[in-house]
Amino acid sequence: MMSNIQPKDVRVGVIYGGTSPERAGSLASGESASKALSSNGWNVTLLDLADIDITHLKADIDVAFLALHGPGGEDGKIQGALETLGIPYSGSGVMASAVGMHKPTFKKLATMNSLDTPRWMEVDRSISTIVTAASAGLSLGWPAFVKPTSGGGSLDASIVQNEFALQYALESCSENDYNQYIVEEYIAGTPCTVGLLEVGGVLQPLPVLTVDTDREFYDYTAKHDIQQRREQCPADLPPGMAFRLQKYAVRAHRMIGAHGVSRVDFLIGPNGQIAILEINTVPGLSLQGNLATMARAARIDYPQLVEYVLATAFTKPKYLP
Ligand SMILES: Nc1ncnc2c1ncn2[C@@H]1O[C@H](COP(=O)(O)OP(=O)(O)O)[C@@H](O)[C@H]1O
Ligand SMILES: [Mg+2]
Repeated sequence: MMSNIQPKDVRVGVIYGGTSPERAGSLASGESASKALSSNGWNVTLLDLADIDITHLKADIDVAFLALHGPGGEDGKIQGALETLGIPYSGSGVMASAVGMHKPTFKKLATMNSLDTPRWMEVDRSISTIVTAASAGLSLGWPAFVKPTSGGGSLDASIVQNEFALQYALESCSENDYNQYIVEEYIAGTPCTVGLLEVGGVLQPLPVLTVDTDREFYDYTAKHDIQQRREQCPADLPPGMAFRLQKYAVRAHRMIGAHGVSRVDFLIGPNGQIAILEINTVPGLSLQGNLATMARAARIDYPQLVEYVLATAFTKPKYLP
């Protein structure tokens, strides 16, 4: 790609921040990525989506490196704007971003593609929380797990032990940014994740990473404080398990039409069952984040990782839905 162009002549806009609830994670991703891209010789500008007028972006940058997480940055909205402006950008296109962000849609596709995902129900806000909580108990049992349909970083996610706890969770959340929720069957499993990265035009699964935490689950605190979790990468798993996880991750990536980079989250249950939770089309890019750790385990250092991610801006097919 761009073989006769010098990196210093290419204006890379690292777009980060924005106003999503995952802003803090995005700041970390953008700062780390922009430093590494600058050291690699690119002409980098760090742009906070909350401050810029994107209608003028075409005059200022040649390519967008997306370090945005959550609604607005990972769900196809910015991707669509960049498509319309004619600015190449890293990672997935509009459709994959939108489907990847919306857990119920992703889970429906997973089910159609023979990927096991925890049973779930979507919370219908036109129905009372009392009725919702009662029917969740009947169909999913207790405990259950409640999370936003378009969330991330475990924000606003929780284990609920009974009807009253679910009702309370839904009522106390109703005023915040995430107005839409799913309730899932609770899986007492080990969180694990598989990064996927396009290297030289070929999508490669990275070594599997498992997480162990003393917290109730792999929550926001455990994700942001390395003292609160223990990671294993490559994970020590029963024979064949890592390969299956990687195969399922690739299937999930392809099934939504993702491009270039993603990270697929699973739970491994007590009997070795694999439950797919979600795909992240803009995985966190902080130095201590999961993707960087998995890349290191594949002998891809951080500066190389961001190069590969940037390259995905130029390897998209002519038309990407
Ligand atoms: N159905 C579930 N049963 C048990 N724990 C869950 C379930 N769904 C999510 N979790 C816990 O919450 C974490 C984050 O879930 P995930 O679906 O990946 O959402 P997010 O988009 O917030 O990362 C998981 O790693 C796991 O610890
Ligand atoms: Mg996750």
